[in-house]
Amino acid sequence: MPADESQKRRLVVGVSGASGMPLTLRLLQALQRPDVELHLVISSGAKRVLREEGGIAPEDLARYARAVHPADDMAAGPASGSWRHDGMIVCPCSMSSLAAIACGAGSTLLHRAADVTLKERRPLVLVPRETPLNLIHLENMRRLAAAGAVVMPFMPAFYTRPETIDDLLRHFCGRLLDQLGLTSDIRRWRDDDARPRP
Ligand SMILES: Cc1cc2nc3c(=O)[nH]c(=O)nc-3n(C[C@H](O)[C@H](O)[C@H](O)COP(=O)(O)O)c2cc1C
Repeated sequence: MPADESQKRRLVVGVSGASGMPLTLRLLQALQRPDVELHLVISSGAKRVLREEGGIAPEDLARYARAVHPADDMAAGPASGSWRHDGMIVCPCSMSSLAAIACGAGSTLLHRAADVTLKERRPLVLVPRETPLNLIHLENMRRLAAAGAVVMPFMPAFYTRPETIDDLLRHFCGRLLDQLGLTSDIRRWRDDDARPRP
Protein backbone atom coordinates (compact mmCIF):
# COMPACT_ATOMS: atom_id res chain seq x y z
CA MET A 1 0.00 0.00 0.00
CA PRO A 2 1.38 3.43 -0.87
CA ALA A 3 2.82 5.41 2.03
CA ASP A 4 3.43 8.26 -0.41
CA GLU A 5 0.48 10.68 -0.33
CA SER A 6 0.81 11.38 -4.04
CA GLN A 7 0.14 7.74 -4.87
CA LYS A 8 -3.17 7.59 -3.02
CA ARG A 9 -6.41 7.21 -4.94
CA ARG A 10 -8.42 10.37 -4.33
CA LEU A 11 -12.13 9.60 -4.23
CA VAL A 12 -15.22 11.74 -3.75
CA VAL A 13 -18.31 10.35 -2.04
CA GLY A 14 -21.50 12.36 -2.41
CA VAL A 15 -24.28 11.64 0.07
CA SER A 16 -27.74 12.82 -0.96
CA GLY A 17 -31.10 12.63 0.75
CA ALA A 18 -32.36 9.15 -0.02
CA SER A 19 -32.89 6.38 2.46
CA GLY A 20 -29.91 4.12 3.13
CA MET A 21 -27.42 5.83 5.42
CA PRO A 22 -26.20 2.53 6.96
CA LEU A 23 -25.00 1.62 3.45
CA THR A 24 -23.17 4.94 3.19
CA LEU A 25 -21.51 4.41 6.55
CA ARG A 26 -20.41 0.91 5.51
CA LEU A 27 -19.00 2.31 2.26
CA LEU A 28 -17.00 4.96 4.07
CA GLN A 29 -15.66 2.29 6.41
CA ALA A 30 -14.68 0.15 3.42
CA LEU A 31 -12.80 3.13 2.01
CA GLN A 32 -10.71 3.53 5.17
CA ARG A 33 -7.53 2.24 3.64
CA PRO A 34 -4.03 3.56 3.23
CA ASP A 35 -4.33 3.83 -0.55
CA VAL A 36 -7.43 6.06 -0.48
CA GLU A 37 -7.87 9.78 0.24
CA LEU A 38 -11.55 10.41 0.80
CA HIS A 39 -13.51 13.61 0.16
CA LEU A 40 -17.11 13.94 1.22
CA VAL A 41 -20.01 16.10 0.08
CA ILE A 42 -23.19 15.80 2.16
CA SER A 43 -26.34 17.46 0.81
CA SER A 44 -28.75 19.23 3.12
CA GLY A 45 -31.34 16.59 2.15
CA ALA A 46 -28.92 13.93 3.40
CA LYS A 47 -28.56 15.68 6.74
CA ARG A 48 -32.33 15.56 7.14
CA VAL A 49 -32.48 11.85 6.29
CA LEU A 50 -29.58 11.13 8.65
CA ARG A 51 -31.66 12.71 11.41
CA GLU A 52 -34.82 10.85 10.43
CA GLU A 53 -33.21 7.45 10.04
CA GLY A 54 -31.57 7.89 13.41
CA GLY A 55 -28.41 6.51 14.81
CA ILE A 56 -26.01 8.21 12.40
CA ALA A 57 -24.94 11.86 12.67
CA PRO A 58 -23.13 13.82 9.93
CA GLU A 59 -20.05 13.76 12.19
CA ASP A 60 -20.14 9.96 12.11
CA LEU A 61 -19.62 10.18 8.35
CA ALA A 62 -17.18 13.08 8.49
CA ARG A 63 -14.64 11.24 10.62
CA TYR A 64 -13.87 8.92 7.71
CA ALA A 65 -12.95 11.70 5.29
CA ARG A 66 -9.87 13.79 4.68
CA ALA A 67 -12.26 16.70 4.04
CA VAL A 68 -15.97 17.40 4.11
CA HIS A 69 -16.79 20.04 1.52
CA PRO A 70 -19.82 22.23 2.29
CA ALA A 71 -22.66 21.43 -0.11
CA ASP A 72 -22.91 25.06 -1.22
CA ASP A 73 -19.18 25.68 -1.65
CA MET A 74 -18.77 26.09 -5.38
CA ALA A 75 -15.14 27.04 -4.84
CA ALA A 76 -14.28 23.63 -3.33
CA GLY A 77 -11.90 21.32 -5.17
CA PRO A 78 -14.51 18.85 -6.52
CA ALA A 79 -16.25 21.73 -8.34
CA SER A 80 -13.37 21.98 -10.81
CA GLY A 81 -12.04 19.58 -13.40
CA SER A 82 -8.52 20.75 -12.68
CA TRP A 83 -8.78 19.29 -9.16
CA ARG A 84 -7.84 15.73 -9.97
CA HIS A 85 -9.51 12.68 -8.49
CA ASP A 86 -9.98 9.05 -9.38
CA GLY A 87 -13.74 8.69 -9.19
CA MET A 88 -16.94 9.65 -7.44
CA ILE A 89 -19.70 7.59 -5.86
CA VAL A 90 -23.06 9.11 -4.97
CA CYS A 91 -24.49 6.87 -2.25
CA PRO A 92 -27.36 7.05 -1.77
CA CYS A 93 -28.49 9.01 -4.80
CA SER A 94 -31.94 10.56 -4.38
CA MET A 95 -34.22 10.92 -7.39
CA SER A 96 -33.83 14.66 -7.02
CA SER A 97 -30.03 14.45 -7.29
CA LEU A 98 -30.34 11.87 -10.06
CA ALA A 99 -32.50 14.30 -12.05
CA ALA A 100 -30.17 17.24 -11.40
CA ILE A 101 -27.12 15.26 -12.51
CA ALA A 102 -28.96 13.87 -15.54
CA CYS A 103 -29.76 17.34 -16.80
CA GLY A 104 -26.37 18.83 -16.00
CA ALA A 105 -27.65 21.22 -13.35
CA GLY A 106 -24.69 22.07 -11.18
CA SER A 107 -26.37 24.26 -8.62
CA THR A 108 -25.05 22.36 -5.57
CA LEU A 109 -21.51 21.11 -5.03
CA LEU A 110 -22.69 17.50 -5.15
CA HIS A 111 -24.36 17.96 -8.54
CA ARG A 112 -21.52 20.05 -9.91
CA ALA A 113 -18.91 17.51 -8.75
CA ALA A 114 -20.83 14.69 -10.47
CA ASP A 115 -21.14 16.78 -13.64
CA VAL A 116 -17.42 17.52 -13.58
CA THR A 117 -16.64 13.83 -13.04
CA LEU A 118 -18.61 12.96 -16.17
CA LYS A 119 -17.08 15.70 -18.30
CA GLU A 120 -13.58 14.66 -17.25
CA ARG A 121 -14.44 11.04 -18.16
CA ARG A 122 -13.71 9.81 -14.66
CA PRO A 123 -15.69 6.99 -13.05
CA LEU A 124 -19.05 8.13 -11.68
CA VAL A 125 -21.04 5.52 -9.79
CA LEU A 126 -24.59 6.33 -8.72
CA VAL A 127 -26.48 4.31 -6.13
CA PRO A 128 -30.09 5.44 -6.71
CA ARG A 129 -32.68 4.61 -4.12
CA GLU A 130 -36.40 4.76 -4.80
CA THR A 131 -39.10 2.20 -5.32
CA PRO A 132 -41.13 1.78 -7.40
CA LEU A 133 -39.48 3.70 -10.23
CA ASN A 134 -41.49 5.92 -12.55
CA LEU A 135 -40.63 6.58 -16.19
CA ILE A 136 -38.88 9.84 -15.33
CA HIS A 137 -36.53 8.03 -12.92
CA LEU A 138 -35.84 5.34 -15.53
CA GLU A 139 -35.24 7.90 -18.28
CA ASN A 140 -32.82 9.79 -16.05
CA MET A 141 -30.92 6.58 -15.34
CA ARG A 142 -30.82 5.75 -19.04
CA ARG A 143 -29.50 9.19 -19.82
CA LEU A 144 -26.81 8.94 -17.16
CA ALA A 145 -25.75 5.46 -18.27
CA ALA A 146 -25.46 6.80 -21.83
CA ALA A 147 -23.27 9.64 -20.55
CA GLY A 148 -20.89 7.16 -18.94
CA ALA A 149 -22.14 6.83 -15.36
CA VAL A 150 -22.52 3.43 -13.71
CA VAL A 151 -26.02 3.16 -12.27
CA MET A 152 -25.87 0.69 -9.45
CA PRO A 153 -28.90 0.45 -7.17
CA PHE A 154 -28.47 -1.48 -3.96
CA MET A 155 -29.69 -4.89 -5.06
CA PRO A 156 -28.38 -7.44 -2.61
CA ALA A 157 -26.97 -10.76 -3.80
CA PHE A 158 -28.15 -13.88 -2.02
CA TYR A 159 -25.80 -16.38 -3.66
CA THR A 160 -23.27 -15.35 -1.01
CA ARG A 161 -25.66 -16.75 1.64
CA PRO A 162 -25.75 -13.65 3.84
CA GLU A 163 -26.64 -14.12 7.47
CA THR A 164 -26.84 -10.49 8.55
CA ILE A 165 -27.74 -7.14 7.05
CA ASP A 166 -24.08 -6.23 7.39
CA ASP A 167 -23.19 -9.18 5.16
CA LEU A 168 -25.45 -7.66 2.46
CA LEU A 169 -24.01 -4.17 2.89
CA ARG A 170 -20.41 -5.41 2.91
CA HIS A 171 -20.85 -7.43 -0.27
CA PHE A 172 -22.50 -4.54 -2.10
CA CYS A 173 -19.72 -2.16 -0.97
CA GLY A 174 -17.17 -4.61 -2.38
CA ARG A 175 -19.02 -4.50 -5.71
CA LEU A 176 -18.91 -0.69 -5.57
CA LEU A 177 -15.15 -0.83 -4.97
CA ASP A 178 -14.87 -3.14 -8.00
CA GLN A 179 -16.21 -0.28 -10.13
CA LEU A 180 -13.30 1.90 -9.02
CA GLY A 181 -10.73 -0.85 -9.48
CA LEU A 182 -10.17 -1.23 -5.74
CA THR A 183 -9.57 -4.65 -4.22
CA SER A 184 -11.77 -6.15 -1.52
CA ASP A 185 -12.13 -9.52 0.12
CA ILE A 186 -15.80 -10.13 -0.66
CA ARG A 187 -17.05 -13.61 -1.51
CA ARG A 188 -17.33 -14.01 -5.27
CA TRP A 189 -19.30 -16.35 -7.41
CA ARG A 190 -17.28 -19.48 -8.26
CA ASP A 191 -14.09 -17.94 -6.89
CA ASP A 192 -13.28 -21.18 -5.11
CA ASP A 193 -14.40 -23.26 -8.06
CA ALA A 194 -12.65 -26.62 -7.90
CA ARG A 195 -14.87 -28.35 -10.46
CA PRO A 196 -13.01 -30.16 -13.20
CA ARG A 197 -13.06 -28.45 -16.59
CA PRO A 198 -15.46 -30.14 -19.05
C1 LIG B 1 -36.60 10.17 5.72
C2 LIG B 1 -36.55 10.53 4.28
C3 LIG B 1 -36.30 9.54 3.37
C4 LIG B 1 -36.24 9.83 1.99
N1 LIG B 1 -35.97 8.81 1.12
C5 LIG B 1 -35.84 9.09 -0.17
C6 LIG B 1 -35.48 8.05 -1.07
O1 LIG B 1 -35.28 6.90 -0.69
N2 LIG B 1 -35.33 8.38 -2.37
C7 LIG B 1 -35.49 9.66 -2.84
O2 LIG B 1 -35.30 9.87 -4.03
N3 LIG B 1 -35.84 10.66 -2.00
C8 LIG B 1 -36.02 10.42 -0.69
N4 LIG B 1 -36.35 11.43 0.18
C9 LIG B 1 -36.63 12.77 -0.36
C10 LIG B 1 -35.33 13.58 -0.58
O3 LIG B 1 -34.63 13.74 0.62
C11 LIG B 1 -35.68 14.95 -1.18
O4 LIG B 1 -36.18 14.80 -2.49
C12 LIG B 1 -34.49 15.91 -1.16
O5 LIG B 1 -34.90 17.14 -1.71
C13 LIG B 1 -33.32 15.36 -1.94
O6 LIG B 1 -32.35 16.37 -2.09
P1 LIG B 1 -30.81 16.04 -2.33
O7 LIG B 1 -30.73 15.07 -3.44
O8 LIG B 1 -30.18 17.34 -2.67
O9 LIG B 1 -30.29 15.48 -1.05
C14 LIG B 1 -36.42 11.16 1.54
C15 LIG B 1 -36.69 12.17 2.48
C16 LIG B 1 -36.74 11.86 3.82
C17 LIG B 1 -37.00 12.95 4.82
